[in-house]
Amino acid sequence: MKLLDLPLVSSLLLAALPLLVACAASGRPPNPRPVAAAAGAGAAPAPARDPHSFARPEEVAVDHLKLTLRVDFASRTLSGRASLRLAPHAASRLHLDTRDLDVRAVTLDDGRAAATFRLGDPVRFLGRDLEVEITPQTQWVNVDYATRPESAALQWLTPEQAGGGKPFLYSQSEAILARTWIPCQDTPGVRMTYEATIAAPPDLLAVMSAENPTAKRADGVYRFAMPQPIPSYLLALAVGDLQFHPFAGNSGVYAQPAVIERAAWELADTPRMIAAAERLYGPYRWGRYDLLILPASYPFGGMENPRLTFATPTILAGDRSLVALVAHELAHSWSGNLVTNATWNDFWLNEGFTVYFERRIVEALYGRPFEEMEAALGRESLESTLADLGPDSPDTRLHLDMAGRDPDDAVNDVAYEKGALFLRAIDEAVGRQRFDAFLRGWFDAHAFRSMDTAGFVAYLNEHLLAGDPQLAAKVDAAAWIDRPGLPASAPAIVSAAFAKVDGQVAALAAGTAPAELATQGWSAQEWLHFLGKLPRPMPASRMAALDDAFHLTASGNDEILAVWLERAIESRHEPAYPTLERFLLQVGRRKLVKPLYAELAKTPAGTEMALRIYGQARPGYHALTQQAIDRLLDWRG
Ligand code: BES
Ligand code: ZN
Repeated sequence: MKLLDLPLVSSLLLAALPLLVACAASGRPPNPRPVAAAAGAGAAPAPARDPHSFARPEEVAVDHLKLTLRVDFASRTLSGRASLRLAPHAASRLHLDTRDLDVRAVTLDDGRAAATFRLGDPVRFLGRDLEVEITPQTQWVNVDYATRPESAALQWLTPEQAGGGKPFLYSQSEAILARTWIPCQDTPGVRMTYEATIAAPPDLLAVMSAENPTAKRADGVYRFAMPQPIPSYLLALAVGDLQFHPFAGNSGVYAQPAVIERAAWELADTPRMIAAAERLYGPYRWGRYDLLILPASYPFGGMENPRLTFATPTILAGDRSLVALVAHELAHSWSGNLVTNATWNDFWLNEGFTVYFERRIVEALYGRPFEEMEAALGRESLESTLADLGPDSPDTRLHLDMAGRDPDDAVNDVAYEKGALFLRAIDEAVGRQRFDAFLRGWFDAHAFRSMDTAGFVAYLNEHLLAGDPQLAAKVDAAAWIDRPGLPASAPAIVSAAFAKVDGQVAALAAGTAPAELATQGWSAQEWLHFLGKLPRPMPASRMAALDDAFHLTASGNDEILAVWLERAIESRHEPAYPTLERFLLQVGRRKLVKPLYAELAKTPAGTEMALRIYGQARPGYHALTQQAIDRLLDWRG
C-alpha cells in the first residue's frame, strides 16, 4: 500500500540532511527517530529544523520564562530582565533569538555570576543570534535588556492615535517578532510556561496572553502567570486605558471606554461559540477566553493570543455580522495553540485547520446557509490569490519552503483557504462522524506539542486511510500538500443565497436600475459577494447610482466599505475619495488597507494620492502594515 507519495519522502530526507550533517559534525548522536518512519510505522518523524530561528532546542530548551519589564511611553521602550529556565541538558551554549534589543548584561542562575555572551551579526528578518556560554549545571539564564522604539512587534500609540485620552501599547509576536521584545527561542517548535511582572503607568491597565487582572491597580504593577506551555509567538502584552465587560461563564471583553459597550454587544455570542467548539473537538484547556479590542491601527483582524484574543475594532459592525473572526481566533485554542505548527513552513496546520474549525462553529451557531456563504467567500478569495500567484507557484502548495524569506510573506489565502478546503475534502470523503472523531483524536494526541506536515500525513495515514487504498487515492493528500494549485477533485462550495445574488448582478448588468434590485434583507456576506461580482471597472455613473441606492460609501461595515472603496478607486467614483482618505488615516488593518493602496498605485494620479495619504497615515500604522505598504509604494520616507 502506498502511504506516502515520493516527493514528500524525498523532501523530508532533504529537510533532514542539514540536521544529520550537523549531528555528525558535532559528535552528537543523530535524532533517534528516523525520518523515514513516516513512510510506514506511523511514528512521528523527527521534526525539521526551523529555518527562522537561531535557537538550537535539540541542545538545550527553555521551558519557563520569567519576565520583569517597565513600560516607558516617553522613551517608547520596555526595559528589564528576561530570566529563562533551561530544561535538563548537557549543553555549553545557549542560542537565543534577538532583534533590535539592547542587551545590557547576561548572568547565570542567581544572577551573581556574569556570563560570557556574543551577539552575532544581524541577518535580514531574523535579527541577531545571542550566544551565551553556559555549563550543563546552568539552570537559569538572565538577560538584562531594553527594546528600541523601532522594535517591530510593539506599537506605541499616542493618546490621539489610540483614539482616546490615554496612550496605548500592544505587541504582535507572530510570526517571528517575539524576539523584538523578548530574547527567547523564537521558534514554534519550543514551548514554555511564563510569569511576568509589568510596571505600567498608574492610570493604565496591562493585560497579557495569561491570567489577567480585570481592574487597574493604583501602583500600575501587574503580575501574570501562564501555567500552560506556549510557543514564543503567543507571548503578548497590551497596556492602555482598558475596561472589562464579563460575559457569562469563562469569557469577557476588554476595550477602551469609548468602545467597551459596543464591543460587549457585538461579541455577546462568545460563550455560545465556546460551547459549540467544545462539543466539536473537546474541552477548552486554557481557563478563561477573553477578547481585547485594540485601537484601529491594529494590523490584523485578530490574533489568537492564549486566554486573550486580540482583535481589530473593524469587526464592530453594529450587527454582529463579522463575528466569524471570534470563531476563528477561538478555534486556534485547539488548532495552533494546543497543536502548533512546528515551523512556518507548516503554517497551514495552524490556519487551514482553524478556518475549517471556524466554519464548523459558525455552522453550529448560525446554520449551514451562513456557513456556505462564508466558505464561498473564502473560495472566491482563494481563486484570486491562486490567479495572482500563478498556476505553478510553489507558494500555492500547503507545505511551504520559506527558508531565506520572511515567514510573514506566507500569510495569504493558500494556508487558510486551500488548507480548509483540504480538510473539507477529507470530511466529505470519510463522512463527518469519522472525520470529527479523527480531528478530536489529533488534538488530544498532540496537545501542547508542535507538529509538522509530515507528522500530519503520517497520522492521517495511520488513523484514517490505513487499509483503504481507495479512500487514500480519493483524498490524495500529496496532491494538496506538495503540488501547486487545487486538485481537480476539490469540493465545490454551493451557496443558494449567493446564487440569488448572482441573479441580481446579472439583472444589474442587463440594465436594471440599482434601486430596483432585490437586495432586501441582504447580510454583509451577500453584499460582499455582490461587490466582488460587479464588472470591473464599472462606469462612474453606475457607481454613483449604486451609492445613491445603497449608501455604500456610508457603510458602517468596514469589510464592505473596504471592498467598495477599492471599486471606487478602480472606477474613479470620486465622491467616495474623502471617505477613502479618512479610512486610510484611521484603519491600519493590513488586509483592508493594502488592496486600497495597491489599487491607487495602478495610475500616476492615484500613486500621487497614495503617497500623499500614506505620508500622513504611516506613523499611525504598525510596523507590519508599514512594511507591506512601503514595499508596495516603493516608499523611501
Ligand atoms: N494567527 C493569525 C494572524 C497572523 C498570522 C499574524 C500570521 C501573523 C502572522 C490570525 O488567527 C488570523 O488568521 N487572523 C485573520 C482573521 C481570520 C478571521 C482569518 C486576520 O487577521 O485577518
Ligand atoms: Zn488564524
